[in-house]
Amino acid sequence: MKNKQITLAWTGASGAPYGLRLLECLLAADYQVYLLISSAARVVLATEHGLKLSAAPDTAQQQLVAHLQCSAEKLVVCGKEDWFSPVASGSAAPKQMIICPCSASTLASVAYGMSNNLLERAADVVIKERGQLLLVIRETPFSSIHLENMLKLSQLGVTIMPAAPGFYHQPQTIDDLVDFMVARILDHLNIEQGLVPRWGYDQRQPS
Ligand SMILES: Cc1cc2nc3c(=O)[nH]c(=O)nc-3n(C[C@H](O)[C@H](O)[C@H](O)COP(=O)(O)O)c2cc1C
Repeated sequence: MKNKQITLAWTGASGAPYGLRLLECLLAADYQVYLLISSAARVVLATEHGLKLSAAPDTAQQQLVAHLQCSAEKLVVCGKEDWFSPVASGSAAPKQMIICPCSASTLASVAYGMSNNLLERAADVVIKERGQLLLVIRETPFSSIHLENMLKLSQLGVTIMPAAPGFYHQPQTIDDLVDFMVARILDHLNIEQGLVPRWGYDQRQPS
């Protein structure tokens, strides 16, 4: 039942294009995506991408379907207090969840098991059920608070993946940088992707 279901959360860190591209790739890979969007994520999305998403989940879902030109069937946008969503319970939640981009604030809430909203609860559920949780954190520099929170989660088996694209694929555009990060995330989720050349195979070599 839970095959090809995944939870994706967008929070208010810079990096909305990563979240959008990841959503696009997950839907293209035929995943049913439960999408959780924090209030700050909506502000960042409007600032960085010009996309003003409604706070109403159904309207936001329609806006995203129109924006990405994807099928509405597989995208479920959840409200922040939609406690009856499958992601709120270990009996029904997908085993994989990505928070991308992940703010320092959400990092702290997850590290302390706050569960004050559906997004935090969904992460808490994946940790307690020993599923796969990936945090794509964007902040610089990191404080000792951030580093301690990351270490705590890493020791619990959470994957900490800073939004730090490489340059060895010789990116020409911002989309190339975004795809670098999204490709690494998809690799960790074991989802096939061909977004960027693989190291040692067809990446460009120095002459
Ligand atoms: C345009 C913009 C960019 C931001 N960038 C970051 C960032 O890169 N990292 C971060 O931790 N917070 C960033 N913030 C601050 C967070 O949005 C803020 O701490 C918020 O409370 C996070 O809430 P959330 O975790 O519920 O989304 C940014 C805010 C705005 C408006």
